[in-house]
This record gives sequence, C-alpha cells and structure tokens, in this order.
Amino acid sequence: MSETLKFAVLPGDGIGPEVMDVALEVLSAATKPEGISLDFSSADVGGIAIDNHGEALPESTLEVCRAADAILFGSVGGPKWESLPPKEQPERAALLPLRKEFSLFANIRPGLLFPELVDASPLKTERIPDGIDIVCIRELTGGIYFGQPKATRTLEDGQKEALDTMIYKTSEIERIAEVAAVAAYGRGKKVCSVDKANVLETSVLWRQTVTEYFKKNHPDLELSHMYVDNAAMQLARDPNQFDVLFTENMFGDILSDEMGVICGSLGMMSSASLGVSQNRFDKPFGLYEPAGGTAPDIAGQGIANPCAQILSAAMMLRYSFGYDAIADRIGNAVKKAVQDGVRTGDIAFGKTPVGTKEMAAAIIERL
Ligand code: IPM
Ligand code: MG
Repeated sequence: MSETLKFAVLPGDGIGPEVMDVALEVLSAATKPEGISLDFSSADVGGIAIDNHGEALPESTLEVCRAADAILFGSVGGPKWESLPPKEQPERAALLPLRKEFSLFANIRPGLLFPELVDASPLKTERIPDGIDIVCIRELTGGIYFGQPKATRTLEDGQKEALDTMIYKTSEIERIAEVAAVAAYGRGKKVCSVDKANVLETSVLWRQTVTEYFKKNHPDLELSHMYVDNAAMQLARDPNQFDVLFTENMFGDILSDEMGVICGSLGMMSSASLGVSQNRFDKPFGLYEPAGGTAPDIAGQGIANPCAQILSAAMMLRYSFGYDAIADRIGNAVKKAVQDGVRTGDIAFGKTPVGTKEMAAAIIERL
C-alpha cells in the first residue's frame, strides 16, 4: 500500500508555525511506517497573509485549500493586527470565510483532561478525579454568525442601531444532529442537546427537530435537552455528566471555551471542522485546528505546547483520511509522554519543562 495524503498547511501567526513544524514531523513519523506519504502545500493565512498579500485569506491560499483533501490550520491573530477594523482582523477575516467557503458546518471539540493533569483545571480535583472526557459538537455555519440581515444603521433621532439575525432551518439542524449521533456511538451513547427553547424561536425549532430526528433515526441513543444557561453551570459543576454536548453556533462558541478552560491547558485542545463535501478518500473535507490561539507572549521562543496541533493532525487522519488506528496511536503517544512527565511549561506543575521540539520528540519516541 502506498497512499498519499494531500493536505493544505496554514501555519498562520504567533506560535502557529513552530507547533506546525513539529506536528508535521509527528505526522510523518506516524504514517511513514505504514507506507503513507504526505503531500502538503503551505500557504499564508491571518496576519502574515495581511502583511504579505494585503488580506487575511488571499485567493492564492484558497486555491491551495481547494486542491487539497483537508486543511491543517495553525492559529491566526496577534497584537500587530488588533487595530485593524474588526472585519479585517485575522480571526474574523480568515476563519469565518474559510468555514463558509468549505461549508464546514460541524465543529468537533474534544474536552479531554488526562487524570495526570487534573491540577491544570480550575475545578476542584475531587470533582474530576479521573480527569474529563467529553466532546462538544457545535454547529458552525449557521445561526447568528451568518444569518442575514446583519447591519448597523443610523436612526432618525441620530442614534445607531445594529442587528444580527439568528436563523436555522430543519436541514441544518438535522445534519449536525447526525454528527452528534455518530460521535455518541463511538463513546457513551449519550447526547445532550443545548438550546434556549424557553425564549428563542430558533431553539424551539432546534429542540423539536432534534427530538424527532433522534426518535426516528437513533432511538438507541440517550437524548436529553438542557437550556444553555444551565449547561454553562453544569459544565462547571460536574462536566463528566455530559458525554456528547451538542449545540448551535454561538452557544457552542461560548460553551466550548468554558470546556477548554475546565480542561486545563488550551495547549492540549484540538478541534475538527467538517464540511459537507467528500474528499478523494470519500471522507469529509475538513479543517483541523488547535483551540489555543497564537500565544504572542511566547511566540518564537520554542517553548509552546505542540500537543494541540499534534492532536489536531491526528483528528485529520481520523476524519478526513480514515486512518483511525494511526490517529489512536498518536493520541496514545501524547498521553504516554504526558504521563511520563514530559511536559511543556503550561502543564509542567513542578516538573522541569521541556521545549516544543523535545515534547514532539518524546511523542515520536512513544508512537
Ligand atoms: C472560535 C473562535 C471564532 C468563533 C472567532 C475567532 C471568529 O472564537 O473558533 O471559537 O467565534 O467561532
Ligand atoms: Mg470561540
């Protein structure tokens, strides 16, 4: 067997390039013994693309992505570009159009905290003696982020008024419900759908649609519903009561960040955003990205935690290329390295911290 994986590499800004470099090394070390070769093309995105091409997501970068079967993304943004108008800033001007362009409607964020790292969580350790293991499935191309109209206008009395539109249709709710169901089959078979059905029309439709969809297609899964304000509390009180947490775009933005913080270091948080189209592997085209951001304060020092980027690369193997076993091997190697006490500064807790490259080398050793 000699298969070639073709993907776009968009390292972006801050720590993006340095964690991307070592993630590619891990990916290569994990796939080579299987006779798999990597065919990736790198392109600018975010702040560096603004500097080099005048915009955060240049057409040349989109071309590289269109020619690929998946996108491995670093992170974008930083102080240098913060004074630009919000619409032109790297985060908004790169990520949102990428999601729209490739219809990346399903965002999968594992909330994983190894028992060895419970000290990294702001929660009391007695509440999470075995760590945390949940997953958040967030709708990513609908709702208030993209709904039209979206506008700011000046009223007759001179004051301004701004408007965003929260809108969902049945098919959008059903396709993300299916992603949540599939995730649940691979885990504890429990889905909690989060909405605000006591106030919002979109949430009433969400709850009805999800209820009917699961009744018809997945009666063997345990489905529950929760209001978003309660879900925010329950996550902080007892996160492991959830298995698959599943919700619309803006609620998912907020809850997934809360999940990130209770899981300790952002340096460990990976994510996948799956699109509607199938790639040459008959798998969803997807974008894979760590959740931690560009960490400008430590960029360029070689001390950033590469685990989130490495775990995102493993998610790419799993979801866009179908190599579950290799993805598992990478996940286990990360876990073993951390258990053996090889840790970057963000998760060191008294252990002597290692640099980005040493962390990656320790993971490669344990593949
Ligand atoms: C995320 C981010 C983005 C979002 C921003 C940067 C546009 O917070 O991926 O969660 O709100 O979706
Ligand atoms: Mg967010």
